[in-house]
Amino acid sequence: MKRVSAAVDSSKLAVSCMPFISSRFSDRVGNMEDIMEKIISLAKRRGFIFPGSEIYGGLAGMWDYGPLGVELKNNIKREFWKTMVYGRDDTVGLDAAILMNPKVWEASGHTDAFTDPLVECKKCHTRVRADHEDEIKAHEEIHKKKKEKVEWTEPRKFNLLVEAKLGAVEEGKLSVYLRGEITQGVHVNFKNILDSSWRKLPFGIAQIGKAFRNEITPGNFTFRSREFEQMELQWFCSPLASRTVRTHGDSNADLRGKWMPDDWFGYWKEERIKWYISLGMEKSHVRFRKHEEDEKAHYAKAAWDIEYDSPFGGWKELEGIHNRGDWDLSRHSKFSGERLAYFDDETREWVTPWVIETSGGVDRAALFFLIDAYREEGEGKEKRTVLKLHPKLAPIKVAVFPLLANKPQLVEKAREVYKNLQTTSYNLQPIVFDDIGNIGKRYRRQDEIGTPWCVTIDHQTLEDDTVTVRDRDTMEQERVRNEELNSFLQKSFV
Ligand code: GAP
Repeated sequence: MKRVSAAVDSSKLAVSCMPFISSRFSDRVGNMEDIMEKIISLAKRRGFIFPGSEIYGGLAGMWDYGPLGVELKNNIKREFWKTMVYGRDDTVGLDAAILMNPKVWEASGHTDAFTDPLVECKKCHTRVRADHEDEIKAHEEIHKKKKEKVEWTEPRKFNLLVEAKLGAVEEGKLSVYLRGEITQGVHVNFKNILDSSWRKLPFGIAQIGKAFRNEITPGNFTFRSREFEQMELQWFCSPLASRTVRTHGDSNADLRGKWMPDDWFGYWKEERIKWYISLGMEKSHVRFRKHEEDEKAHYAKAAWDIEYDSPFGGWKELEGIHNRGDWDLSRHSKFSGERLAYFDDETREWVTPWVIETSGGVDRAALFFLIDAYREEGEGKEKRTVLKLHPKLAPIKVAVFPLLANKPQLVEKAREVYKNLQTTSYNLQPIVFDDIGNIGKRYRRQDEIGTPWCVTIDHQTLEDDTVTVRDRDTMEQERVRNEELNSFLQKSFV
């Protein structure tokens, strides 16, 4: 998150920054005016994302993930876990409690420094973030239309931690915070993990979970929410390691054992941007941005963002890579009285590890994967909306159709193929059966939600036990023997 000291230069507030649609979207979606409107509408219509508690008028900054959205999000989280935990022998996982002893947040510095600069319109008392120039401008435009001039209050610090009350008896309720970042659960468990898993430096602890922030202006669909999920790695490494080897990308773990925190910082930056690209995000749509000195979070010695070229104002933060130094472990040691350090057997000395953190938003990843995958193709009757999601992320992997819904033999055979796929293809779940409407409509329905393959059972199937497999992106169809269908799909899936 972009953090700016509350002493924002008020002259900056007037700088214009109109929302714009980047030209690259028009290449992919014809003459559309507003890709966000289309994505939001598709998300609602097809069951990806709904406004939270909508029937009661909603609640600002809250979103519910529907049947397809929960699959997309689970797929993102599964891929993160596969890469960051199962794919390595130097990391472990954790799932810490959302509510923590309030002292945690004092020690971590969040009660003092987890703030955004807030300004208030003196006319209508609307509050916006002082560093969000586009929102300031948009608000001033509203008053300008009424021939009014806006005056803003001086920026003041606004703490983002969300408070809650815990306990069964009213008078005895304890004031706690919903965690503002998932990170602290890792740091307070550092000793537990070290004692129980005998890790040697360097090693990482990965975690995925909900975080909560009193965002001043939630908006841009799920981009800035008040409840959201993070996927993080806290990488513990020694600040005392020998400086003899600096070879980014070298797969030799012995050599990497000698890297300094800066080397690891470079390594994790690259690993994380590669992860998004490996899951289909277009390379030219992501970039790194280094934080300015006055923008860094209170715990960060260095901070870079991975940004996505969004349709709502261009480059926006997708993931933060931070060098947290020994900030968290030292502060928790001091506040708790526990020694949170590592005993180096070779040098026979205690060392407080430094932490390189990779911190991504699951909801932002889901949103940007959706935007990146969205296409409108063809003309007239051939026109289709298609989500070209990576098969690993697609909510539904395969749809099975009988060519005609009124031919019992075809329907029966299609059900049999569907059941077989469901029971044999453990990593191709979920699979759907659809016999509603004509085949063209069924293809369009699956294209719109990103299903990579549609399997159709036709008259020829009844004769030679072959089926057609249609590829979402090329729309080409291939005849495949039913008995080979599972392995054919598995191959395409990788
Ligand atoms: N532990 C470090 C940390 O929390 P951050 O940059 O404040 O760093 C990390 O947040 C990521 O969490 C961001 O890059 C973003 O993807 C996601 N995130 C932060 N605030 C968010 C919000 N209000 N809504 C949705 N996602 C958010």
